[in-house]
Amino acid sequence: MKNKVIVSIIPQLKDNYSYIVHSLINKSAIIIDPAESKPIIDFLIKNNLYLKGILVTHHHSDHTSGLESLLNFKKTSVYSPNKDIFGTNKIIKDNDIIDFDFLSLKIISTPGHTSDHVVFYNKQNSLLFSGDTLFHFGCGRVFEETYDVMQISLKKIEQLPDSTKVYCGHEYSIKNLSFLMNNFNDYHLLSDMKKRLLKQIMDNGCSMPFLLGEEKQINPFLSQYSEYFRDYMNKNGINNKQFFKNMRDLRNNF
Ligand SMILES: [Fe+2]
Repeated sequence: MKNKVIVSIIPQLKDNYSYIVHSLINKSAIIIDPAESKPIIDFLIKNNLYLKGILVTHHHSDHTSGLESLLNFKKTSVYSPNKDIFGTNKIIKDNDIIDFDFLSLKIISTPGHTSDHVVFYNKQNSLLFSGDTLFHFGCGRVFEETYDVMQISLKKIEQLPDSTKVYCGHEYSIKNLSFLMNNFNDYHLLSDMKKRLLKQIMDNGCSMPFLLGEEKQINPFLSQYSEYFRDYMNKNGINNKQFFKNMRDLRNNF
């Protein structure tokens, strides 16, 4: 039971997720990427949780718009990579470790979707909160940096253990998988995954979390370990960087 933590998924807005991570031992809790405060506050009250901090992956409003009312509800530390994010009083950067009494999180800087983007990794429980950098079967749009920078950021995530459970910022899994099946209709792993994905959404209402080890085989933006995607690149005479750019451009227009 030592250090037992629970991750609760809080649907937000149209297709965003915020997460509440809390300790079963002492009821300490943190919030990640709040967009709408009401369901978060309701959850904290219902479960008698002690808020120890709010963490933000990047500056987009669908990850931050709940900050003001949450801070009105309870003053707490806001850990973010950008001083312009509302309420920020702890600036975080690459390789920082945040030690809460029940949870230690490593900050990994992942610029690409935005310049300030970070993700949060907990080694002890194999958890990754990937914001809008890595999605299930996809990755975030590249708004503020180059494709190369985004690809380097995703390669950092790729170094984490296969057993890592990933919680991302949006429910885009079905659309992302449809995009892949449209482009790689002979990749049998994708149709296998579709059955599981639909069952998971039917059973749990969402597709979080997903396993990083499996994602390495099916996500073309994390393609360095997939034989299928290596063959595809060889056949088409393109390298990893060109493949990444082609896939991202195609997905933007899907
Ligand atoms: Fe975003």
